[in-house]
Amino acid sequence: MARTCPFSLCDGSGILVDEDTRTSSYCRCRSQVVATARARGLSAVIPKKYANLSFDRAPVTTIRDSIVSYVRRYVRDVDAKIDAGEGLWLYGPVGTGKTSLAMLVSKAALDAGRTVAIYSLPRLLAEIRTTFDDGSEHSYTELLDRLTGVDLLHIDDVGAEKTSPWVLEQLYAMINARYEQERAVIITTNLERDQLAEQINERTVSRLEEMCEVLPVTGADLRRQTFGLVEEPDPVASPVTWDRA
Ligand SMILES: Nc1ncnc2c1ncn2[C@@H]1O[C@H](COP(=O)(O)OP(=O)(O)O)[C@@H](O)[C@H]1O
Ligand SMILES: [Mg+2]
Repeated sequence: MARTCPFSLCDGSGILVDEDTRTSSYCRCRSQVVATARARGLSAVIPKKYANLSFDRAPVTTIRDSIVSYVRRYVRDVDAKIDAGEGLWLYGPVGTGKTSLAMLVSKAALDAGRTVAIYSLPRLLAEIRTTFDDGSEHSYTELLDRLTGVDLLHIDDVGAEKTSPWVLEQLYAMINARYEQERAVIITTNLERDQLAEQINERTVSRLEEMCEVLPVTGADLRRQTFGLVEEPDPVASPVTWDRA
């Protein structure tokens, strides 16, 4: 069930969006939203920066149509996609809108009452690491169960940092568990497939590849853009299969 705001102020997300001024602020119920997510031991809230995202305004309107319409279709069929365990892999240069698009998907899943865990990969790996701090293997198993159990696991910035082989092994275990249970994953990354395999292991990447549609998010760096998008020819209009040498 989707959460409802006890004060009837927000849509249950803990964030108030003012459509007129296009700004967002925390709702009175925000602390409860965070507490609920924490109680479940997972991060399940859209970061504030991305809370007021919409397909109808920037930055999403400045992303190439062919990419946005693909994500829009995923969002429209979000229940079916999640039930089928179909994920999305958004890759491309920095600042092209990957995280924004992925957040729209997670928001749609949350709005549909599905369970979602949202992490940057560095944070997720840190979380895995800390379960071992006190030597308690039990809490690691619990974390793994929870991460495997959510309807949608959203991992942002995959490959952003190098980490130890041991931690990467735990990441593989988690992705593999979701693979076996056919549960959807959405990832964003700046890296090409083979670079990613170097960072997080070939085995993990090849699992993800099977679980996700690979969607290149190309275009100008929206963060550096002041005068609107410089139109380039539209090179890719649909998901790709990586060229395997
Ligand atoms: N809610 C928002 N409102 C307006 N601009 C945003 C919002 N969220 C992100 N942006 C801008 O959109 C651009 C792309 O951001 P992002 O999706 O984080 O890119 P990527 O993940 O590809 O690096 C950046 O310029 C960012 O500042
Ligand atoms: Mg990003």
